[in-house]
Amino acid sequence: MCGIIGYTGKGDAKEIMLDALELLEYRGYDSAGIALLKDGRTQMIKRAGRVKDLRNLCARINPEGQCGIGHTRWATHGGVCDENAHPHRFGSVTLIHNGIIENYRELIDKYELEGSLISETDSEVVAAVLQHFYQGDPYSAIRRTVLKLKGTFALAIMFDDQPDQIFAVRNVSPIVVAATADGAILSSDVAAIVPFTTDYFVMPELHVVCLKPDKIEMYDLSGDHAKIDWLKVDWDVSRSGKGGYPFYMEKEIMEQPQVIGETILPRVKEGMPDFSEEGIPDPVFADCKRICVIACGTAMHAGLVGKSLIQWVIGIHVDVVMASEFMYNDPVVDKDTLVIAISQSGETIDTLEALKFARKCGSPSISIVNVKGASIARASEYVIYTNAGPEIAVASTKAYTTQLAVLYLITARMALARGIWDEQKAKAFMEELLRVPGVIERVLETKEEIHRLAGCIINARDVFMIGRGLDYSILLEGSLKLKEVSYIHSEAYASGELKHGTIALITEDTPVIAMVTQEKLKSKELSNIREVQSRGARVVLLMKEGETLNEGEQWSCVYRLPVMEDPFMVMPASVVLQLIAYYVSLDKGLDVDKPRNLAKVVTVE
Ligand code: M6R
Repeated sequence: MCGIIGYTGKGDAKEIMLDALELLEYRGYDSAGIALLKDGRTQMIKRAGRVKDLRNLCARINPEGQCGIGHTRWATHGGVCDENAHPHRFGSVTLIHNGIIENYRELIDKYELEGSLISETDSEVVAAVLQHFYQGDPYSAIRRTVLKLKGTFALAIMFDDQPDQIFAVRNVSPIVVAATADGAILSSDVAAIVPFTTDYFVMPELHVVCLKPDKIEMYDLSGDHAKIDWLKVDWDVSRSGKGGYPFYMEKEIMEQPQVIGETILPRVKEGMPDFSEEGIPDPVFADCKRICVIACGTAMHAGLVGKSLIQWVIGIHVDVVMASEFMYNDPVVDKDTLVIAISQSGETIDTLEALKFARKCGSPSISIVNVKGASIARASEYVIYTNAGPEIAVASTKAYTTQLAVLYLITARMALARGIWDEQKAKAFMEELLRVPGVIERVLETKEEIHRLAGCIINARDVFMIGRGLDYSILLEGSLKLKEVSYIHSEAYASGELKHGTIALITEDTPVIAMVTQEKLKSKELSNIREVQSRGARVVLLMKEGETLNEGEQWSCVYRLPVMEDPFMVMPASVVLQLIAYYVSLDKGLDVDKPRNLAKVVTVE
């Protein structure tokens, strides 16, 4: 987690870093700090709080320099306080760190550091070990230190006597590097690089990069020169920024018709699903005997929808496994199991590790990733990018619906590759999929009506969401969204499970959001709704336009969803749930984009 930035060049390093840290703040926002190296002296300014607090502090101190490193922290080792904020300094070494050093305790003992450290962090220990090995040769010190570290790290390092130079090394945690018009820059992700250039490279693991104002050099750990593989950011840079909305979350919700279209359209050739651009041959879809989806959070919820679709159309077994639990249940994957890893950031460490394990077991793999060139994309055999563009709000919205779009495409291609569907059947499915952007547009036009619905739950302490089948899968995501941005406790329940205990919690003060979009489940679902109504619950009902409700029934609130074929109803329904969560958070006056305790990219286990 944590955002990191480094710059050396002719510009004002402080301003460049503060601007970059604001862009990176979604990675963590417990504390922030910068260090500037000038004339052999390093000046550090850091504090608990947001980047705006750091900016105010910098305005008072006014540090100068053209070479510096900066950090925005999501606390792991050590509480949220000024001392634990990065950068950390030991002797002539100053560094910032993203990741976790697992053996930091052993290193403290081995290098007798007890009593000489200022913070409680594992990162300061790394600075101390570097200092221990440093005798004027940064490469040698970094190499020797890295060999002692266990865990994950992205480190940007300055040495007082190496003017204008920043060194970087990483294991698992990402670092991207680029040349600017007047210098060189590194960061934990491309968001901070996009204002300067669209050309960048992802540092390979266990290599050392040296940034100088006019040069970027890279070496492997044996000291040999390494070749740099340059990439291009191919998202529309104008999409960065809030585009006039008060929060990124609203902007990203509103972008969905466009980005879903941009995810689907390049993969439709003559009305058929097509992954030839991705180079995925049909046998990958045709030969697998089962599928295992690995993902976390929202991405895992997308996987649940994928499971329903694939089991329905293809009739093969699909497991959806929380990547964070994958390794603890003796995973059974083999060459006949197609592994699908889903991740917006492409950096979630649990998903990455599970994917690597599956590949070692011989499983073919496809990843569905949003960020180009991310670790998960590189670790899988094939990658399908969601073209959602940068997603900045911590709560995922457009990444989720574009992941769903890719899962519909995979289902259709798989049905064709296995001879389950003929062209006509696939075409009809694709026509419905192509309607999705327009249908979502219609939902977005009703956002004020959804805003009023949000009013039905804003004062609740607990909210339940009930549905069956696909409705239940979407509600799991709707409930996560509500919890994450509004801090209202919420549970999604499979309606049939309610009677097995949870209905005891339903009272007159418990709003229940009920979803009924699947014709075959409608009558059972309506009975379950009546059961909670009889216990006094206020029901907010989401159902299709044109559906009839029984006369005389009392509904607190109803929202009518534009009609699609049943398997596609998840799309408009998800957007309604996203907007409900957004408006509750907005009206509660919360920081919608940066909910407490969270970070956008989860690079620690
Ligand atoms: O980057 P990823 O898609 O791998 O992230 C997985 C989860 O951390 C993420 O979906 C998280 O649940 C979101 N904050 C939910 O809105």
